[in-house]
Amino acid sequence: MNQTIENLKTRRSIRKFKDEQISDEDLKTILEAGTYAPTGRGAQSPKIVVIQNPETIKEFSAWNRSFFPVDVPEDMDPLYGAKTLLIVLADSEFPTYVEDGSSVLCVLVNAAHAVGVGSCWIHRARDEFASEKGKELLKEWGIPESYEGIGHVVLGYPDMEAPEPLPRKEDYILYVD
Ligand SMILES: Cc1cc2nc3c(=O)[nH]c(=O)nc-3n(C[C@H](O)[C@H](O)[C@H](O)COP(=O)(O)O)c2cc1C
Repeated sequence: MNQTIENLKTRRSIRKFKDEQISDEDLKTILEAGTYAPTGRGAQSPKIVVIQNPETIKEFSAWNRSFFPVDVPEDMDPLYGAKTLLIVLADSEFPTYVEDGSSVLCVLVNAAHAVGVGSCWIHRARDEFASEKGKELLKEWGIPESYEGIGHVVLGYPDMEAPEPLPRKEDYILYVD
């Protein structure tokens, strides 16, 4: 099978990572691939924020958990102990910003898999960056306040077997006249 197609089909969300940081080379490769994601009008409106400081990741874990719609235990880590956290933000002034950010997220997770790095897309970035604290962070990072959170990606070398994918839905694809 074509290598790219095989990678797209074998990527799975990884939720247990080895206790080591990913190499700078792997990180760079994944990030650069992300910047080649298709964006509406080629505007490249999204930004990818990279966090590797363990204390900052711990804060993001608790913050992300606070937006769960149901009560979860305090020791539940929604970032799965990952040592690299990416946040994708996109500029709400662009009509396609949600799609642009999602496009970048898709490329990031697949690029990670292509270089042997496990990843998982993590939700609730919208809640984080709609809050006062999120707005303050944007200011601190020098990002205009029109940016919104689209999603996160956690990265690390897998410490689990990739799960079997669910069977694909039979009515996923429709051919119409
Ligand atoms: C928009 C979106 C939000 C997601 N949020 C989370 C999340 O917060 N936590 C998590 O563990 N997985 C999250 N995932 C990963 C999905 O659960 C996962 O992609 C799905 O179960 C299919 O599994 P696979 O990625 O192994 O094919 C998210 C995926 C998407 C596309």
